Amino acid sequence: MSHAQHGDAPAHHGHGDHDGHSHDDLASEAEGADLLDLDGDVLRTYWDAALDRVTAALVSSPADEQGAPARVVDLGAGTGTGTLGLARRLPDAEVVAVDVSELALARVDAKARAAGVGDRVRTVVADLDAGWPDLDPIDLTWASMSLHHLADPNRALSDLRRITRDGGLVAVAEFDEPLRFLPDDLGLGRPGFEGRALGVLSAVHAEVLPSIGASWDEVLREAGWTVVDEHDVVIDERSPDHPLAGRYARAWFDRLAHGLTDRLDAEDHRTLEALLDDDGLHGLLHRTDLHLHGVRTVTIARR
Ligand SMILES: C[S@@+](CC[C@H](N)C(=O)[O-])C[C@H]1O[C@@H](n2cnc3c(N)ncnc32)[C@H](O)[C@@H]1O
Repeated sequence: MSHAQHGDAPAHHGHGDHDGHSHDDLASEAEGADLLDLDGDVLRTYWDAALDRVTAALVSSPADEQGAPARVVDLGAGTGTGTLGLARRLPDAEVVAVDVSELALARVDAKARAAGVGDRVRTVVADLDAGWPDLDPIDLTWASMSLHHLADPNRALSDLRRITRDGGLVAVAEFDEPLRFLPDDLGLGRPGFEGRALGVLSAVHAEVLPSIGASWDEVLREAGWTVVDEHDVVIDERSPDHPLAGRYARAWFDRLAHGLTDRLDAEDHRTLEALLDDDGLHGLLHRTDLHLHGVRTVTIARR
């Protein structure tokens, strides 16, 4: 598994003081939520493939003899792409979206109501670094791009195992290859801009999110789980096939710009500015050469 993983742009780390938000914090949290919504829209093919496989594993689980899954948890649910996808796929289950961000969970509530599953989707604001809310017993937990945000993923997974029923599952989705959007030659600046930006991002992540790039199968085993499936889902979306791809790329590089500009050299800084210039020739919103590609690994383990 690659160790150069990038779950999200640097400004979005999910931690924070959610009682004493500054205006900047709220704006940043809202931008992070927008980015997650775009991820769910633009990478729909990836999400469908990953969630289909996870729900198939649950349904074929021997514990299925005990009846249909009753409670499913979306750990670090964000704006609920996983929550809604699971609620649609598991029509008898209650789906609980857990996140530290009230703002993100408000979007989950609204989406659940709009999709007609509001009676089965519950949101719980909780900081999982401080322990698990009372959700015992859980049949399946989906943890997408969230475990690397926790201070101690091993402890969170051990505690989760204790509140999961026998035979219940956890499914962890994390980046194996970082998402890329751009061709090597952008028609401006030095070729290879995106690779250099990802290198800088990787260094920042190593400082603030030390478990990013972990071997999640090993972390799961150490936490007492039995790994039953691990597979890579390839992301391969070509713009302009998807109308929101340019917006997703723009949102992503905008957050990159907030966190990294002081670490890019002057020429790459100018390239980033040109990419974010919506009226310019090279702006991300209008480019026809975007190609979103990357790999996310989904690891499924049983209690
Ligand atoms: C990269 S986002 C992933 C969101 C969603 N699972 C997805 O894949 O679209 C990470 C999420 O983890 C949440 N998170 C970070 N630290 C957390 C904590 N200590 N407790 C609960 N949620 C946390 C963040 O608020 C954020 O919504």
